[in-house]
Amino acid sequence: MTHTSTAQAAARDLLTTLTGTAPQGIWSAPGRVNLIGEHTDYNEGFVLPFAIQHRTYAAASPREDGRIRVASTFADEPVEVSLDDLGRLFPTPAGKAPAVPEWSAYVLGVAWAMRALAPTPAEHGADIAIASDVPVGAGLSSSAAIEGAVASALDELWQLNLDPVTLAQIGRRAENEAVGAPTGIMDQMASMLGLPDAATFLDCRTLETRSVPTGFTAEHLELLVIDTQVKHSHSTGGYRERRASCEQGAELLGIRSLRDAGVEDLPRAADLMDDVTLRRVRHVITENQRVLDTVDALATQGPRAVGDLLVASHASMRDDFEISVPELDLAVETALAHGAIGARMTGGGFGGAAIALIEHASVASVSDAVARAFSDAGFAAPHIFTVQPSGGPRRDA
Ligand code: GLA
Repeated sequence: MTHTSTAQAAARDLLTTLTGTAPQGIWSAPGRVNLIGEHTDYNEGFVLPFAIQHRTYAAASPREDGRIRVASTFADEPVEVSLDDLGRLFPTPAGKAPAVPEWSAYVLGVAWAMRALAPTPAEHGADIAIASDVPVGAGLSSSAAIEGAVASALDELWQLNLDPVTLAQIGRRAENEAVGAPTGIMDQMASMLGLPDAATFLDCRTLETRSVPTGFTAEHLELLVIDTQVKHSHSTGGYRERRASCEQGAELLGIRSLRDAGVEDLPRAADLMDDVTLRRVRHVITENQRVLDTVDALATQGPRAVGDLLVASHASMRDDFEISVPELDLAVETALAHGAIGARMTGGGFGGAAIALIEHASVASVSDAVARAFSDAGFAAPHIFTVQPSGGPRRDA
């Protein structure tokens, strides 16, 4: 008997309730954790994420009336539109909320972006039901997981046979233009190209990838995720502002993107920009270097050599990029004080999760120490679990 996750069963049941018949298929895609390389993706730099075992499921059946109907275990009501109307709904104007409930914009946005790239016959439509075991708002890319599951489902239902990088680009377009979150390509690529035993090194300019074995298991190490339960959103506020500062910094340096600058450019940058912009730029430039150093250290010295790089990455996000929050700092400090090899916040920041690289034998003691520190500080109880590199999208049923 094969294992059926609760979320997979929930997606199947929801679709069956919606349409009165069992789905034609169920597809899923993973969330991700980022080992290192934060806010470097939209600067055309480097990242080192891996897909995790938590997945989002899309149960789906084709329709022949040119309509798309989506339901989710997160919402009371399904949303239904004609595919022709998608062109009137999207793109969502910058800084505005989508014209449909936000959760449905991830799904409808994928259908819209897919049709823009690979026109389908007018009568093609779909019924889709979503359920997920990727924690939402935790910085583990629940959104990329939805996009990946839906893109995989529609690709097969509409017989498009698009390659994984194209599906990742479709997911990113849905997120940027339908949901209105000005994010980079890391999350969709990490989800689409997930591997069962390695991280994915991604050059966000060329979209070239390389599999990088983490070596965690052989060294008896675990990657602990500490979800602070502080919810964040990248559609508004800080994320957009950070991105604008990076673009301004690149312009002042006279380069296409911060990818084209190195640590040797920092003295020149100091003469060209205000202190805040300089610190934003310094984070991105040094973080790109830390990603390259991490890839190198993993290959030549093994995972125990990356601790200082993770710690330096966190300090840079806390002090220069200013995207950490007290809960993330406490998670990192407590994990380090209890023997973690390295720790940092992961994802876009302003909430979400921290990661800690720890000995397999100290999972319980570090988890307990962090939970206690949160309770002592009066913070909400964190959700703490380990993650393992996992495969990308697949058809489950
Ligand atoms: C979010 C975005 C990504 C990336 C990270 C920060 O996860 O979706 O594109 O910018 O933040 O590294």
